Amino acid sequence: MSEYVLEMRNVTKRFPGVLALDNVQFNLRPREVHCLVGENGAGKSTLMKILSGAQPMDSGDILLSGERVDIHSPHHAQQLGISMIYQEFNLSPYLSVAENIFLGREPRIGRTPFINWSKMYCDAREVLGRIRVDLDVRKPVNECSVAQQQMVEIAKAISFNSKIIVMDEPSATLTDHELRALFDLIKTLRRQDIGLIYISHRLEEIFEIGDRLTIMRDGQYIGTNAVCDLTRDDIIRMMVGRELKDEFPKEIMPRGAERLRVEGLARRGAFQDVSFSLHAGEIVGLTGLVGAGRTEVARAVFGADAIDAGTIALDGKPITVTSPRDAIRQGIGLLTEDRKGQGLVLGMTVRENTTLANLKSLVRILFVDRRRERAVAEQYVKELQIKTPSIEQTAQNLSGGNQQKVVLAKWLFTQSKILIFDEPTRGIDVGAKVEIYKLMNELVRRGACVLMISSELPEVLGMCDRILVMHEGRLAGELSRADATQERIMQLATGAELAAAKA
Ligand SMILES: Nc1ncnc2c1ncn2[C@@H]1O[C@H](COP(=O)(O)OP(=O)(O)OP(=O)(O)O)[C@@H](O)[C@H]1O
Ligand SMILES: [Mg+2]
Repeated sequence: MSEYVLEMRNVTKRFPGVLALDNVQFNLRPREVHCLVGENGAGKSTLMKILSGAQPMDSGDILLSGERVDIHSPHHAQQLGISMIYQEFNLSPYLSVAENIFLGREPRIGRTPFINWSKMYCDAREVLGRIRVDLDVRKPVNECSVAQQQMVEIAKAISFNSKIIVMDEPSATLTDHELRALFDLIKTLRRQDIGLIYISHRLEEIFEIGDRLTIMRDGQYIGTNAVCDLTRDDIIRMMVGRELKDEFPKEIMPRGAERLRVEGLARRGAFQDVSFSLHAGEIVGLTGLVGAGRTEVARAVFGADAIDAGTIALDGKPITVTSPRDAIRQGIGLLTEDRKGQGLVLGMTVRENTTLANLKSLVRILFVDRRRERAVAEQYVKELQIKTPSIEQTAQNLSGGNQQKVVLAKWLFTQSKILIFDEPTRGIDVGAKVEIYKLMNELVRRGACVLMISSELPEVLGMCDRILVMHEGRLAGELSRADATQERIMQLATGAELAAAKA
């Protein structure tokens, strides 16, 4: 018997213009959490898509408990005991939790074609019980939170008796509390003889739940180590191939004139009485727990959602923004956290996505100046180190992190005066994060101001001049760079401060 439940040997995969995997090795022991890390575009998702039958490999071997297998479809992978939890879930929104778990395998009444509902609900409860998840099995999936949907995906994997579960950036959209629940679940799965492969850009998570870790860089296998033998710096160095001197390259700029002023902004059910200002030369953080109303405030300033009260002034003049088009015309840009939904047109190329929001600046007489358009796109690909074979690549074919960089390029090109970044570094590797921070510095140096919504406190503390903290739809407080600490922010974000004031 092999010591490994899974071995991938010399896996190679080529896409047009990209060698995505070059002789990569990977193995998994029973009952371990094996983390897979590497920069954006390193090939992590591709390797896992091959394992789960979603992509064929060009060459290489896959062995399950020492036996060579040929995985030809996701369905086949599932039969072999391999399940993949994708970032975009494969659930049917209008069906119940139970129906989703047993989709296509619904228990029948005897030999009739009729579904045995009571058995299906009972089986679903049993599966959820095994992973200690308390969820109404009759609830439609579209009424479940993201975390609950993830649990349904995991329950589905369990119901197939999977021995290997792959999670590709499962934590990116979870709140702190939900992340805790996921980690507990991972520990439960591990006790049930399941091996887990965990992809994440957040190194803290790897130290918390990882047993071993495999590092990839640019389609190459770099190495596998026990997590406890490595420091954070070791991992970063192996990932990016060089020493990363400064994770937060903050430049303090002189504070200029007030550019944006928001006064008494309110939207029923979302937030109320929100007032703040942004000055030239500043990066202001907007933080708080997920659900505190930060994104809603940003959407309102950007004209994507209507407001019920309040005023917005730009450079001292009151403005009305009733649509994103208004906002863009006034020089306000919003980089959304949901890159697939609002940020990016997946079917368009890198070039088209980059210039989309500001095509008019490229028009000469009546036609778009294609040469300049290409030059602009090329420049951003270079500046942001977007990994793509060319600017004519369809956005869909880029890795997750590189798609995010294209969204960034698009907003940089609009040359907005006010830029709101909503979770700009989510899913971005440590090296590329530094590049994004440097770009923010550059924007601010050119006179723009930046409002950065982020749940990553180190990044907020590292890059912002001032920090606004929201709690349940209200601004709970403001901290200067000098006064801000992780504890102070958490006090404000959880409402501990307010409770103390009332007492
Ligand atoms: N269907 C595809 N067609 C063409 N190129 C692709 C396709 N899928 C992936 N690639 C390319 O293969 C390389 C590896 O991509 P992959 O998605 O595996 O990276 P990743 O390590 O998961 O990155 P991230 O951390 O950004 O998610 C990238 O250069 C990507 O552009
Ligand atoms: Mg990926």
